Amino acid sequence: MTVILFFISSAHAQPACAGQKFENNKRYDRCIDLPQLDSYLHWSIDSAKGLVSIVFIAPPATPDGWVSWAINPTGEGMVGSQSLIGYRAPNGLMVVDTYNVSSYGPLVKGKLDFGVTDMRSEYEDGVMRIFATFELLEKGQTTVNQVWQVGGSVTEKGVPARHDLQPANLGSKGSLDLLSGEISGGGNGNSKTKRRNIHGILNAVSWGVLFPVGVMVARYLRTFPAADPAWFYLHGSLQVSAYAIGVAGWGTGLKLGSESKGVKYTDHRNIGITLFCLATLQVIALFLRPKIGHKLRFIWNIYHHGNGYAVIALGILNVFKGLEILSPSNKWKLSYIIIISSLGAIAFVLEVFTWIIFFKRKSLKTTKSDDNGDAGRHT
Ligand SMILES: *[C@@H]1O[C@H](CO)[C@@H](O)[C@H](O)[C@H]1NC(C)=O
Repeated sequence: MTVILFFISSAHAQPACAGQKFENNKRYDRCIDLPQLDSYLHWSIDSAKGLVSIVFIAPPATPDGWVSWAINPTGEGMVGSQSLIGYRAPNGLMVVDTYNVSSYGPLVKGKLDFGVTDMRSEYEDGVMRIFATFELLEKGQTTVNQVWQVGGSVTEKGVPARHDLQPANLGSKGSLDLLSGEISGGGNGNSKTKRRNIHGILNAVSWGVLFPVGVMVARYLRTFPAADPAWFYLHGSLQVSAYAIGVAGWGTGLKLGSESKGVKYTDHRNIGITLFCLATLQVIALFLRPKIGHKLRFIWNIYHHGNGYAVIALGILNVFKGLEILSPSNKWKLSYIIIISSLGAIAFVLEVFTWIIFFKRKSLKTTKSDDNGDAGRHT
């Protein structure tokens, strides 16, 4: 329970954008996970010069689409927005252009109301990035109205075609405080980060902690005759609860995966799916186990133990992969490392202890016993 509380308190992990890296280790002072369209904004502000450098990151609606980030000095929304739009030209190279959007009609390239320099864009792994530095219109200005968007196609003449009119496309706007990083509008800004953190907590608790503890219960508790059959029920209920929490965490992961169009964490996803299959087999196998003493019980034990250890190893590996993706501040990763190595240390001591007891018992009954050398592991 402490462990669960501990992980819940870690729910205030950093936003996902904190883990995004740029060429030459270029750093920006702030970043936010924008509340719509899987987009991110990084920026640094030079208040003295009135300059703001930004990186806008978003997956275009299709690989031939476009992404856009804009400031609207006169209002909210599309009309009036001073836009930077990135897309792939027919020759395959990324282009970024400025558009002074004065109506809902076809967009026309043109100068913006403020100066923009260092514009460039990239397309990688399904995600487009726009880099630019712009001048703030007023001295001392710290809040802007931002509008961002993604679309599915660009005409031959390089005119970004109309975007979808889904709630996400209509809600992708609001004010941005360049100093504090506070945003308004655009729906619930934290909902995705929150769900990613919940996903992380559920899975770290189940695959990363409860499953290993359940295995330890089975392996070490049964050395004591007095713990029979309590260990079995404890093991079973721990693993079944771990499985229930794990499946919930797995489901949230699939949902997050299906929502993040451009960004794919293939390894994390594949390991997660494998884990789900192995753990499900494990639960099914529980009900199909041959009776103690049955010929096949020995084989079932090997299968059950092998599969169980695979789940533990992959589970811990995937918690670390997930921590990399979520990139919370280092203390959370460190905390998980401490928890899992403490479990490892306890397991090591108990392992030694188990073998000592095993050899003691063996020497006590050397004359009559034909023990199969399984260190008391057979039930
Ligand atoms: C942008 O468009 C508006 C409305 O058509 C116009 O008033 C403004 O002068 C334009 N800005 C520039 C820099 O061309």
